[in-house]
Amino acid sequence: MENGALSGAQKERIRETWKAVRQDQLHHGTVLFTRLFQLEPELVLLFQYESSGFSDVQECLGSAEFTEHIRKVMTVIGAAVDSVDSLPSLDEYLTSLGRKHRAVGVKLESFKTVGESLLFALESALGDAFTAETRDAWSCLYGTVVRSMSRGWHQ
Ligand code: HEM
Repeated sequence: MENGALSGAQKERIRETWKAVRQDQLHHGTVLFTRLFQLEPELVLLFQYESSGFSDVQECLGSAEFTEHIRKVMTVIGAAVDSVDSLPSLDEYLTSLGRKHRAVGVKLESFKTVGESLLFALESALGDAFTAETRDAWSCLYGTVVRSMSRGWHQ
């Protein structure tokens, strides 16, 4: 993931492209998590809403509790888009979110796979509009979110 500050043009690109995703967050979030579970199937074991956990990915993806987690993730990404001019305002929340994810067993490396899956979902949503510049802008934004979450994970 890229680091560094976002340019004005990158911020505009992020806001514009998010409009297409925002219209159907659950669908695009499901594409993101379907990809994530293809890349790291063992992550499904961390979603323990039922006493015995889910027996497979489809069961997890179809459950009401997991659907809520998809909405939570998309809400956080949407908040980052809305706060793209003032990302430090989200830092405290994101560090605490990172801490919570360590507590539920998420490994730091998995945040990178989430980033790859986010780019995959954006590409699926945007098609040809997902240019190299758009990819770079989103990598940069996600990198900022993950840096804050990772700081919390280490605390
Ligand atoms: C490696 C991938 C991830 C795994 C395995 C994971 C797992 C979990 C689990 C087990 C919970 C607690 C149950 C629940 O609330 O549904 C949770 C909560 C949550 N997750 Fe994730 N998560 C992942 C990535 C993310 C990402 C990337 C975000 C946002 C950018 C996020 C946002 C949230 C939020 C907002 C909550 C609720 C926290 C609260 O209750 O205060 N998750 N996650």
